[in-house]
Amino acid sequence: MSGNGFSRQALLNYAAAERGVFETTLRELVEIPTVSVDPAHKDDCARGAEYAAGLVRRLGGEATIIPTKGHPIVSAHFQRNASWPTVTVYNHLDVQPAERSDGWNTDPFVFTPDEGRYFARGSTDDKGPAMTALWGAKYALEHGAKVNVKFLWETEEEIGSPNFETTIRAEKDRLATDTVIVSDTVWVSRARPACPAGLRGLQGFRFTLETGRTDQHSGTSGGAARNPITELCQLISECVDGKTGKIKIPGFYKDVVPPSKAELADLKRCGFTTAGFKKDHLFKSLRVNDPVEIMKRIWCLPTFEVHGIAGGYQGPGIKTIVPPRATAIVSCRLVPDMNEKKVIKLVRDFVKKRNPDVTIEVEHGLPAYKGRTTGAHPDAIRAAVKYAFGKEPVFVREGGSIGAVLSMEHVLKTPVYFLGLSLPEHGYHAPNENYDWSQASGGMAAFAEYFRLAGEMGRAR
Ligand code: BES
Ligand code: MN
Ligand code: MN
Repeated sequence: MSGNGFSRQALLNYAAAERGVFETTLRELVEIPTVSVDPAHKDDCARGAEYAAGLVRRLGGEATIIPTKGHPIVSAHFQRNASWPTVTVYNHLDVQPAERSDGWNTDPFVFTPDEGRYFARGSTDDKGPAMTALWGAKYALEHGAKVNVKFLWETEEEIGSPNFETTIRAEKDRLATDTVIVSDTVWVSRARPACPAGLRGLQGFRFTLETGRTDQHSGTSGGAARNPITELCQLISECVDGKTGKIKIPGFYKDVVPPSKAELADLKRCGFTTAGFKKDHLFKSLRVNDPVEIMKRIWCLPTFEVHGIAGGYQGPGIKTIVPPRATAIVSCRLVPDMNEKKVIKLVRDFVKKRNPDVTIEVEHGLPAYKGRTTGAHPDAIRAAVKYAFGKEPVFVREGGSIGAVLSMEHVLKTPVYFLGLSLPEHGYHAPNENYDWSQASGGMAAFAEYFRLAGEMGRAR
């Protein structure tokens, strides 16, 4: 099956020999706080891109930094032979914000190794997997895999990839490829590798209500004064049932395609457990406890989520004021075949009807995505993951969103596949985010083997 250079032992030896350099590289990368949502980190996003480009050049590849209207994109290339297929690996190098006071045990922007786990913001989402794929490619290229490898590293994924599609369209010759493989998704559990059979979309909003100019004494005006926090809470509870999560906006579920019989069967045997889910995400209790019901809700159904509500007094004791304004930050996860434009209209019209004084800001939206689970590449991914980790991946939908995926399919005119390496307990977007050597070393082997198999397939598609 595998050529000599790609024996499992050779791959494991390689990973072990590279561990120190890999860890140093991941350290240097996560210590650049590439927080894309925060304008104060604009230079850090640029620095993160420069670092990644420099790394590729040190490894003998070519790298170009492509500016965008926002943060840059890195395009890297290890060219071997024009008659061989080109595989592009997509990752993002920007990260979610993190403050030590959010519940971190260590500084989020200091790489902290602990018994094979690597704590830092961005360690698993998505810098660790990016570096893992790069190390897998390095091995494959040094051992005769018949592929050219490109990397496409974005630094605006965590803000919905607002400039990605226009930028790659302008650069599509440079980015031409036969296949794209994304490494930015989560397994069902450490024992159960998974590849997404679909991703949810996302549409975000900010609701603001202003009913006064300044705080006022609630004894002298309360009762007659409008309370913007109370009104926003009422509006939100008109949009969604807080206990069940059921969205109450008429027509919201109209286009939802429910999971097929085959998908339901996959859910039942994919290895997901309620206890594991609660443990990995540190939940005390859930809306539902049946595992299939949970999976349907996190992967196959839309949501209406409140991320934050701001306004009024937050200090010690009670300050008896009526606040003048309040803001709620909300978003809807979307599933096939929902359309984000329709969702914007539904939400806007509903809010206007229920509380005409509320203003709505609409964020950049992302459609849902249906993945491919059959064909030569999914089969190669299955084989490579099984080869490296001893277990075949299950193909189930995942609940998160990656804006770049549909853009790459549209612009580069190539299918997108996934080889994710993150685990639920790694804590995507959570305090104490981490990645680990077991996923990194296995991931290098899986990527190396996947590149070998992609090379064996040749250019014919
Ligand atoms: N890696 C995630 C996407 C993801 C999450 C895939 C869970 C599979 C399972 C990505 O970095 C992410 O967090 N995307 C954001 C996009 C948003 C900010 C526009 C998301 O899903 O919230
Ligand atoms: Mn990610
Ligand atoms: Mn993320």
